Amino acid sequence: MAVLGIRTLGDPVLRTRAEEVAQITPAVHQLVDDMLETMEDVHGAGLAAPQVGVAQRVFTFNIDGVKGHVINPVLVNSEDHQPDEQEGCLSVPGIAAPVRRFRRTTVRGIDRDGRPVELDAEGMLARCFQHETDHLDGILFIDRLSGDERRKALRALRSGEYDAAERQTRERRAGTVASAFGKAPGSDDQRETPRGAFGQAL
Ligand code: NI
Repeated sequence: MAVLGIRTLGDPVLRTRAEEVAQITPAVHQLVDDMLETMEDVHGAGLAAPQVGVAQRVFTFNIDGVKGHVINPVLVNSEDHQPDEQEGCLSVPGIAAPVRRFRRTTVRGIDRDGRPVELDAEGMLARCFQHETDHLDGILFIDRLSGDERRKALRALRSGEYDAAERQTRERRAGTVASAFGKAPGSDDQRETPRGAFGQAL
């Protein structure tokens, strides 16, 4: 298992539609294991394969102790929406905004052993499934904003502060990645922003 580097806004892989996984291979097992380890390492609540540079339809999640992964996810959403909640994204560090999401969703796909998966979700878990599935279609949460929230987020992205936050996050994560190989002791105090301050990082 390994902690993988996380791609950030500007990387074309985040804007590419990911491919279906055609066959479960040892490489797919490895990818799922590495994504779970990476998500845990950065205290993320969700992670999609393009975020680690792999354009395949796989995501992992860890919401309130509900942890897992789905390969080739397909969502069936409710027609109504849930109250807007703050979302953040591991690929857009330091930016958070309230995002409109469907109230409930059912995700169907397969697991790393090729077995069918079906999960019903509402609240934050449903939000996470929608955020991660968006990633597989090259969509980021900032694309879902409108009006003032969109203007605010775009202004924040253009600011020097975002560049600084993005660079710091990348450097901190590089330290964390190194620590997985025993090179950067004491990196425990260099963790991601805890949940809450910037919404859930997904
Ligand atoms: Ni994200």
